[in-house]
Amino acid sequence: MTYRALIAGTGAYLPELVLDNEALAARHGLDTSDAWIRERTGIRQRHLAAPGELASDMAAAASRAALEQAGIGLEEVDAIIVATATPDSVFPSTAARVQAKLGVTRGFAFDIAAACTGFVYALSVADAMMKAGQCRCALVIGAEVFSRILDWEDRGTCVLFGDGAGAVVLRAAEAGSTDRGLLSCHLHADGRHGDILQVESDSGLLRMTGKEVFRHAVSKLAGVVDEALQANGLGHSDVKWLVPHQANLRIIEAMGRKLGLPREQVVVTVDRHANTSAASIPLALAEATRDGRIRQGDLVLMEAIGGGLTWGAALARF
Ligand code: COA
Repeated sequence: MTYRALIAGTGAYLPELVLDNEALAARHGLDTSDAWIRERTGIRQRHLAAPGELASDMAAAASRAALEQAGIGLEEVDAIIVATATPDSVFPSTAARVQAKLGVTRGFAFDIAAACTGFVYALSVADAMMKAGQCRCALVIGAEVFSRILDWEDRGTCVLFGDGAGAVVLRAAEAGSTDRGLLSCHLHADGRHGDILQVESDSGLLRMTGKEVFRHAVSKLAGVVDEALQANGLGHSDVKWLVPHQANLRIIEAMGRKLGLPREQVVVTVDRHANTSAASIPLALAEATRDGRIRQGDLVLMEAIGGGLTWGAALARF
């Protein structure tokens, strides 16, 4: 028997504290302005975790919401994969902690580290494992507390990120029984560019050469999006929704133009969430499925780039 992975539910969790650009600048004494941040990035505000709030807490909350939407009980979950660059600890993995917090007692759990591309990597691994029959009901989660790795004196980076978690439930369906589900995932890495976006080992803080990252983003994302469509014999006009990693509105809009998609078919959350790294795509999926934009049968294209460099794309029919 061969299987494919259906996206059965989505869930989101955002911390209670919301800071707009002005409040953030005032709180950290930053020499910046709302106008600068909006113009360069599209970001208006971000959510920030409370003291003591962990990636696993947010991941568990997003997972509960996704399972509830899917109408799937905890007893069915047999795999938990968490994409995070800000795990609770080196081990136990954040995924194992989520398993315990949810009260799941079977299956396996592990983390994936691919920075902002983490969710696409996690989706790809879950898809492959499901196709191989190793799991039948997987939680695939992106959860981040980037506020803990930001240098709050570096205005070039600290204004760009936020905290949050998003989750999807994947369920195995017999291949041939449906045309829905994950069609394919496409992953890349080029470690030669690791130093342009990294967590510095001495300080434990995020460092980025923004211009270089921007330059790689547009060309690499354009390449992997075409790779994903071509692998499935599809064209730009087949895409109903672009759900991109939410780093910067200018990158998102450039990708929308490249695909010839009207703005209304590009899901944007960066204005309210800022860049939540591995959490940004599942958060955007949760928003657009729950508000009725993404409907059953729609072709959804996801893409992301992040530290590594890593980048990738996934195509799914909802
Ligand atoms: N407020 C005001 N000024 C700021 C600022 C801020 N928050 N951050 C940087 N500046 C200043 C710089 O100090 C610099 O000043 P100078 O010319 O006097 O030296 C000037 O703005 C230009 O800085 P630069 O870094 O060249 O700006 P930019 O046009 O490249 O925009 C980013 C910066 C970060 C918005 C942009 O490079 C970007 O979006 N890069 C991609 C980042 C990304 O997506 N990362 C995540 C990938 S997962």
